[in-house]
Amino acid sequence: MHRRIDIRATLVVGFFFSLFCHQSAPAGPIHHDNGAVQRKAYADRMAKDGRVPYHNGATLVCSDCHTMHASLQHNFAGGTGPEGGTSSFPWEIAPAPNLLKAADPLDLCLNCHDNWAGAPDVIGSDANGLAERSAGFCEGPDVVNPRGHDLARGLDTSPGFGLCMRCHWAPPEAAKVTCIDCHTPHGNGIERNLQWASDPEATPPLGLFVADGVAGLAAYERENVAYGTLNTTQLREVTSICIDCHHVLSGSWYTDPDGDGIHSRHPSYDSERQGPNHIAQGEARGSTAPAHWNAGTGSGFDVPRLPFVTDGASSFAAARTVSAAANGVFCLTCHKAHGSSSAFGIVWPLAGPPARTGCDQCHAIEPMP
Ligand code: HEC
Ligand code: HEC
Ligand code: HEC
Ligand code: HEC
Ligand code: HEC
Ligand code: HEC
Ligand code: HEC
Repeated sequence: MHRRIDIRATLVVGFFFSLFCHQSAPAGPIHHDNGAVQRKAYADRMAKDGRVPYHNGATLVCSDCHTMHASLQHNFAGGTGPEGGTSSFPWEIAPAPNLLKAADPLDLCLNCHDNWAGAPDVIGSDANGLAERSAGFCEGPDVVNPRGHDLARGLDTSPGFGLCMRCHWAPPEAAKVTCIDCHTPHGNGIERNLQWASDPEATPPLGLFVADGVAGLAAYERENVAYGTLNTTQLREVTSICIDCHHVLSGSWYTDPDGDGIHSRHPSYDSERQGPNHIAQGEARGSTAPAHWNAGTGSGFDVPRLPFVTDGASSFAAARTVSAAANGVFCLTCHKAHGSSSAFGIVWPLAGPPARTGCDQCHAIEPMP
């Protein structure tokens, strides 16, 4: 992951595949569907459920993030109290590119998303006191964090070369991320405003569902979030955003290169590059324990049922339905998107390397305790 990869010739070829014709490559760095074909209107992206994500439409408040002159003597109500992530007025900053209210987009987002009650807190401890944040949490800017994504300032977020250069031909310390890699700041109608970092415009609707009737910060509780996919550009699993960078960790070509059904890397749901990975799929070989998963008790279930992606689900209720035949294992089964208090951002508490907790929910390896 942090290795410097010496595959220059392949990479040059890879770039051309990736940028111009990757969808026709048998296996390639990213292999998303052709953006030109599937580019969706805003209304289509919204069609999956009624929830309008924040920073969209009426909640896309320009002055949350932009300042016209980098100086305000008073807030918009005429007073000096806190407003929009600014703790007090008069307020003044050094003018920043794109008229942003911070020198770097990362600091801009963290004006509100770190330690500011009322906006989801994505760094360290939670100012809103939620039971468990769905995406977990990162550490602060420029901190090396072994428990999740490392955030950094000054990253090139252009969808092409800049993204690939994070890990290729770059020193290990360049492998970092920023908020606007994964979230578009201007909203796209997709839950959490998530996007394909390599091709933002082509991002399809993604199957992250918030429980009906839940509003405000409860929409970010793990308990109120579920995941589904329809396996087409109509609705893809949310982890299709992960492969823009972690392009060798899913897809049958990478997880089971010889196609014999015995995996070489842990399978992870990838509707574009195959390998469905439903929990019932391992029953024949005894590699998974579907009945144990369905029952939801015993070995492995000393932690709550891990997140799963439900094949064919396009609503919260359907996505939450436990069925080994339809439930699949995916990145967010094991990793929090931002990070957690466990190594590698693992979803369940780890004291050291993973033991049977968590894993045994699907595997129930004998002998069981
Ligand atoms: C001025 C404060 C402010 C700033 C700056 C800000 N946000 Fe937000 N953000 C909020 C608030 C408030 C909410 C939602 C609260 C709610 O749902 O009730 C939110 C919600 C979100 C959500 C969840 C959307 C949803 O409804 O699912 C994402 C993702 C997000 N912000 C990303 C960002 C990113 C990325 C940046 C930087 C480019 C940013 N925000 C900057 C205040 C801010
Ligand atoms: C949640 C934060 C946020 C909000 C709200 C927001 N912007 Fe932006 N805007 C950004 C960021 C971050 C960039 C820089 C994007 C980059 O570096 O790729 C940007 C860039 C821009 C640009 C430069 C061109 C571009 O699209 O990159 C324009 C123009 C712009 N914003 C206008 C607006 C207007 C008008 C509004 C209100 C309707 C608005 N923005 C609301 C964060 C925001
Ligand atoms: C914009 C590129 C990008 C995207 C998209 C991305 N990652 Fe990462 N990820 C990285 C980089 C770079 C690293 C290595 C440095 C670090 O820890 O941040 C990393 C590291 C990780 C790690 C190891 C963290 C550690 O502490 O060692 C995990 C786990 C991970 N990513 C999971 C995911 C998941 C799950 C998704 C999808 C929700 C995802 N990533 C999407 C770039 C990305
Ligand atoms: C988060 C880090 C990361 C990012 C970002 C990333 N790669 Fe990779 N890439 C890897 C790793 C790890 C390998 C596997 C290297 C190995 O096994 O030696 C790899 C391998 C490759 C290969 C070799 C063929 C293969 O599929 O194994 C190509 C080509 C490639 N990457 C192209 C790209 C392109 C193009 C981009 C930008 C769109 C990109 N990579 C972005 C980490 C990354
Ligand atoms: C590697 C991709 C990635 C990066 C980088 C990233 N996010 Fe997220 N974020 C996600 C995903 C995926 C989710 C939804 C995860 C879930 O619910 O399981 C999410 C969820 C959120 C939410 C909803 C709260 C929650 O706990 O679900 C907010 C707000 C948010 N992100 C803001 C940010 C901000 C601000 C930054 C930068 C400090 C950031 N994100 C960086 C991928 C990312
Ligand atoms: C079944 C659980 C599981 C699934 C599914 C899973 N991971 Fe992991 N991942 C782990 C564990 C455990 C580790 C710690 C290293 C190890 O045990 O090999 C890890 C490590 C990582 C690392 C760090 C590798 C390094 O070199 O430090 C990255 C990046 C990562 N995972 C990304 C992903 C992405 C992206 C997906 C989805 C495509 C995914 N993982 C799916 C369990 C999982
Ligand atoms: C949500 C369910 C789920 C969880 C949790 C899970 N796995 Fe898996 N795992 C699967 C599925 C499904 C397969 C594919 C089974 C098959 O095709 O035979 C698999 C395959 C494997 C395989 C390869 C079997 C083979 O020969 O193909 C190993 C080894 C494995 N998992 C270990 C782990 C470990 C270790 C953990 C915990 C870190 C873990 N798994 C967590 C669902 C899960």
